[in-house]
Amino acid sequence: MSGPDGFEIVLDLGMQPLSDSFLPPGHDGAEYTYPLRVVRHTEHPLVRLDTVVPREKMFHDEYPYHSSTSTRMQEHFSAVADRFLRDELTGDDPFIVEIGSNDGIMLSRVADAGRRHLGVDPAGGVGDIARERGVRVRAAFFDEQCAREIRAEDGPADVVYAANTMCHIPYLDSILRGVDALLTRDGILVFEDPYLGDIVERASFDQIYDEHFHFFSATSVQHIVAPHGFELVDVERLGVHGGEVRYTVARRGARPVGHAVAELVAHEQAMDLHGRATLEGFAARVRTNATDLVRTLTDLRAEGKRIAGFGATAKSATVTNYAGIGPDLVPVIYDSTPAKQGRLSPGAHIPIAPSSEFRAPYPDYTLLFAWNHAEEIMEQEVAYRESGGRWLVYVPDVHVV
Ligand code: SAH
Ligand code: TYD
Repeated sequence: MSGPDGFEIVLDLGMQPLSDSFLPPGHDGAEYTYPLRVVRHTEHPLVRLDTVVPREKMFHDEYPYHSSTSTRMQEHFSAVADRFLRDELTGDDPFIVEIGSNDGIMLSRVADAGRRHLGVDPAGGVGDIARERGVRVRAAFFDEQCAREIRAEDGPADVVYAANTMCHIPYLDSILRGVDALLTRDGILVFEDPYLGDIVERASFDQIYDEHFHFFSATSVQHIVAPHGFELVDVERLGVHGGEVRYTVARRGARPVGHAVAELVAHEQAMDLHGRATLEGFAARVRTNATDLVRTLTDLRAEGKRIAGFGATAKSATVTNYAGIGPDLVPVIYDSTPAKQGRLSPGAHIPIAPSSEFRAPYPDYTLLFAWNHAEEIMEQEVAYRESGGRWLVYVPDVHVV
């Protein structure tokens, strides 16, 4: 199957709604949909979506994803901030810019330390929360023009950081020209995103949705940054969000290249991560996984078991709409985000209820859509298992916990 220029389709997940577009109750009108297809480049190490959803449709003032809903992620980003404060923001009046600063989960720590910073995020609602936490925010899409304006107003940045945002941005060349304009001589660009290697190994196909445009690897990041005079100088594998990599990029020759880069590239070559056969094998496992999940839910329903979902994640939009899971199989999804509660999930129209309502009499089985937060959620909801309830997880395969 062919895709955009030089790309071929490896996985077709059908027409999908916007993953973070929660609907008012009773909604039965049309929803914006787009074809969700993963493509690989036939010559270069690039895996991405083939269709660009206009950025304003996804990231706007009502963007419902609030980073700080997870305590674990708050700890994760505090540690990130502490590391920058200790290792990078040490000179005379250092400056850090974060792309996709959301509710200030990382920069609030930098603000508390009194260091010069700027968060850039087009989502006004979460931006207001960040401001209340003392974070300086510019409501904008970061791109080359935005970067040049920041450079003119604030001067050069020692660090440009982005978490779970770089992979959302189709226009990476504009971003990298902007980073080039903004960074000091030996400044660094650091970004962390879901890792293609983990997605393929765990068949975590729900990482595929409108906002996740690029599926990065060490090899692909080297390929993407090189034309802009940058090189990949460090990589770190992270356990958060189901497996991520943190990439550190510097101007070519400005920083020593760590051993971890060659090691991860070698791992990717050994598993032929970008190869057609590898990705077709992944696609086959995804189809099996989705079929297994629907069969399991249907069987449980037939036995009269009560089922619920937990975590109205963006990821769950792909699972429900690709597998065909609606309120008949999962009548409710519990979630702690006020902006999602009382609304319907995109496409599948499963009602979202506050997680405070997840209590006895509990459902028999709860489909954990937020499997990437399993530890945190299972710890919080320990009474559920104690009362005989069971978690149902579908990554890396369908199983009961
Ligand atoms: N960094 C946070 C938020 C990730 S969600 C975390 O890891 O939890 C992605 C965020 O990126 C959203 O808040 C979205 O509004 C923002 N975003 C998307 N495109 C952007 C762009 N071009 N520039 C800046 N922010 C962007
Ligand atoms: P997440 O998996 O972080 O991201 P995405 O939407 O990009 O797939 O989303 C986690 C969702 O789960 C979010 O809507 C908040 C919710 N949640 C809870 O309801 N309770 C919790 O304890 C945690 C950690 C998350």
